Amino acid sequence: MGKLSIPILGFLLLFFAAAAGDTKKYLKYKDPKQPLGVRIKDLMSRMTLQEKIGQMVQVERSVATPDVMKKYFIGSVLSGGGSVPPKASAETWVKTVNDIQKGALSTRLGIPMIYGIDAVHGHNNVYKATIFPHNVGLGVTRDPQLIKRIGEATALEVRATGIPYVFAPCIAVCVDPRWGRCYESYSEDSRIVQALTEIIPGLQGDLPANSKKGVPFVAPGKTKVAACAKHYVGDGGTTRGINENNTVISLNGLLNIHMPAYFNAITKGVATVMVSYSSWNGKKMHANRDLVTGFLKNKMKFRGIVISDWQGIDRITSPPHANYSYSVEAGVSAGIDMVMVPYNFTEFIDDLTYQEHRELAREAVRKSLVLLKNGESADEPLLPLPKKAPKILVAGSHADNLGYQCGGWTITWQGLGGNDLTSGTTILSGISTAVDPSTEIIYSESPNADFVKANNFSYAIVVVGEPPYAEMAGDNLNLTIPEPGLSTITNVCGSVKCVVVIVSGRPLVIEPYLSRIDALVAAWLPGTEGQGVADVIFGDYGFTGKLPRTWFKTVDQLPMNVGDDHYDPLFPFGFGLTTEPAKSS
Ligand SMILES: *[C@@H]1O[C@H](CO)[C@@H](O)[C@H](O)[C@H]1NC(C)=O
Ligand SMILES: *[C@@H]1O[C@H](CO)[C@@H](O)[C@H](O)[C@H]1NC(C)=O
Ligand SMILES: *[C@@H]1O[C@H](CO)[C@@H](O)[C@H](O)[C@H]1NC(C)=O
Ligand SMILES: *[C@@H]1O[C@H](CO)[C@@H](O)[C@H](O)[C@H]1NC(C)=O
Ligand SMILES: *[C@@H]1O[C@H](CO)[C@@H](O)[C@H](O)[C@H]1NC(C)=O
Repeated sequence: MGKLSIPILGFLLLFFAAAAGDTKKYLKYKDPKQPLGVRIKDLMSRMTLQEKIGQMVQVERSVATPDVMKKYFIGSVLSGGGSVPPKASAETWVKTVNDIQKGALSTRLGIPMIYGIDAVHGHNNVYKATIFPHNVGLGVTRDPQLIKRIGEATALEVRATGIPYVFAPCIAVCVDPRWGRCYESYSEDSRIVQALTEIIPGLQGDLPANSKKGVPFVAPGKTKVAACAKHYVGDGGTTRGINENNTVISLNGLLNIHMPAYFNAITKGVATVMVSYSSWNGKKMHANRDLVTGFLKNKMKFRGIVISDWQGIDRITSPPHANYSYSVEAGVSAGIDMVMVPYNFTEFIDDLTYQEHRELAREAVRKSLVLLKNGESADEPLLPLPKKAPKILVAGSHADNLGYQCGGWTITWQGLGGNDLTSGTTILSGISTAVDPSTEIIYSESPNADFVKANNFSYAIVVVGEPPYAEMAGDNLNLTIPEPGLSTITNVCGSVKCVVVIVSGRPLVIEPYLSRIDALVAAWLPGTEGQGVADVIFGDYGFTGKLPRTWFKTVDQLPMNVGDDHYDPLFPFGFGLTTEPAKSS
């Protein structure tokens, strides 16, 4: 997953220029006189990961207590269909929204939340609000100016309840009236839908003359709201009009029928775009990176917020929520900036935090490896290994063992062997992901020499080391690699080009084996993200690590530290070969 992208902030800062309250201390991001870009940069530099993730979350009003807003740094709140405070008068609404806002403003950085609501034909969740005809009726008029005035009126009524954001307009082109939402579409003719996107400047205000295409605009003051063009894209084209189903159409068809109104909406500065539940040719839009990031953001240059639909992320899998971690990753990778969760926000936050943290751990693994030997001479390096090879061998007790990678103090005091102690990526599975799909991987924990000779392996990766331990259970006077580690090195190396990766809490006796080993890597105790090892041995990244302690030749030298008179190490303190990332991978 890439960096969290937060266009939300720019919009919020613009919108709530006056709302943020801390006058005691000058904070650049709170200063409306500063350029927006400067304010965003300042704010981003102050935010923790938790605060950034919180800004990506939109929760339902019923769970949005001030405490929740504060504790989880929630960025946005919505009212689901029919979710209204008791006696849904304008006054009750203002109080509801203000109470939630107080929670948001009481956070460390005081970033205001944005409240969104389905004001799809007037402010339809408020008692005594004006209810306008649904879009199909407005399509009849073919009158963009009338529709714009309706947008203006709706914006005023919505702002009067303290709400700055509406999930409208629906710019679906309904091609099949069997669809239950067909009345939310202005027309079957995309030209009419395009013309009636004029509701957007009605809701948000007219774009200033010097605006940059794609940059969202909501007029300052208290009369306008942010709009949301929805549902991107092809929502009105599903098979037999089945709601949220599959839109089967060529790219040309999609671009000619369902896409045009998005160009108009973006040109008019629409603040947000909501992703459609539907699929395009079998691919869920919520996981469609090509259309969300590739087309909407990169090609059409949309710079506002892409928001998911209600539990839209959950529905990436069938049945919904079958694999939520996968769905979170797929949705965020597709380019969704804000996720309408709407209830179980802790699950979303935990999942996203975990992934982001795993990326961090993987980076740490890459940077923690020390390359001790790389071929017989610098002219003939073995690493980085080619990803494409007919057949390779992965061997060793530590190749496919998460417990060994994690070492002691993991789940239990002494640590555990095996892969069921926690979740993560073993070095073997990191290798499997990294190599070319055509490369055959043979995995054998402790192969004998005949087996290795009988096979025509291009190269072998041997991963051996210490079992997990902690405190006194780890005291060891011989520091040898336990069997079958050593025999694995002997059986493999010599018969085939081999890289030995040592997984251990300290230097171990390796000198007697060094001549038959072609490349040697100290991986220490890397933890759950074994992919980081593959990242470097296959050259997606270079080796950079330097020994943090002396690698001895024999245990009778110990203790032996840098500066000692008898200093005669196998690899001195600070040693570490480097490699450049491979050109192509
Ligand atoms: C479309 O609807 C059919 C029938 O209900 C269902 O089996 C199928 O999974 C749906 N496809 C998608 C992409 O939602
Ligand atoms: C969920 O998806 C991930 C891929 O993102 C996969 O590694 C994992 O095995 C899946 N879990 C289940 C229970 O299917
Ligand atoms: C929220 O998700 C967590 C983790 O999947 C689950 O344990 C919990 O029951 C869920 N809570 C609700 C209210 O669905
Ligand atoms: C061994 O594999 C190489 C390619 O890696 C191939 O050129 C060679 O013919 C193979 N030898 C045997 C005996 O299969
Ligand atoms: C090395 O020491 C450890 C810990 O005392 C012991 O378990 C192991 O058997 C010893 N190995 C050898 C080869 O002596």
